[in-house]
Amino acid sequence: MQKTSEKSLVVVNGIKTKVHNLDYDITLLDWIRTSLNLKGTKEGCNEGDCGACSVLILEKKNEKPKAINSCLIRLGQVIGKNIITIEGIGDKNNLNPVQKSFVKNNASQCGFCTPGFIISATTLLYDNKKINDDNIHDTLSGNLCRCTGYTPIINSLKELDNVKLAPPKYIPVKKIEKVTVGSSNYYHPKNLKDLTLLTQKINNFSFLSGGTDLNLEREVYSKTTRNYICLTNIKEL
Ligand code: FES
Ligand code: FES
Repeated sequence: MQKTSEKSLVVVNGIKTKVHNLDYDITLLDWIRTSLNLKGTKEGCNEGDCGACSVLILEKKNEKPKAINSCLIRLGQVIGKNIITIEGIGDKNNLNPVQKSFVKNNASQCGFCTPGFIISATTLLYDNKKINDDNIHDTLSGNLCRCTGYTPIINSLKELDNVKLAPPKYIPVKKIEKVTVGSSNYYHPKNLKDLTLLTQKINNFSFLSGGTDLNLEREVYSKTTRNYICLTNIKEL
């Protein structure tokens, strides 16, 4: 089985991090927790339903980070991108404004869902929009809490109406066009021309963009080579 190329980098919390020695396909969530030992990001449903695994992704300069479910993204999809985990947005000596407001409003009971809520809620502060019930509900619609109840969580955000945060700095890394993780090849064409050439060159492949359906297939230890053409770097799309 092939191993991952040493040239593959993901920027995690501002640090260029090598992806190597992986002889099996892996989700972003498993990589963060097991290879990087960043355990603040939680695994709940592992199927994109609960938001406990939320992290931020930053794909380009001058872009605002988006919250994604790291259990539904394969590591091969995020090569060359910037990822920010809960450890990258605040710690106990330096809480971010959402964390402070959660503490003040008792918005966490068992705490399992809390990192995911904080990640999603922080995206609201990167938008220069007025915080209201609608955008609070939209922002938190992918996050489930089973014990605190939503009222204190929503109240925490209502208090942040005048708080804005500068988005994290984007750190560029060289984009590579193909990375192998375990038995899977991930291709990252940059434009439609490259995409067309690739589809003529490779026989069996799947297109991969958000991956919310395809990535529920968990054949990570498969010995069959799989080819994925990732669409997120294509300018025209
Ligand atoms: Fe539930 Fe990822 S662990 S959405
Ligand atoms: Fe326990 Fe939300 S605080 S699940």
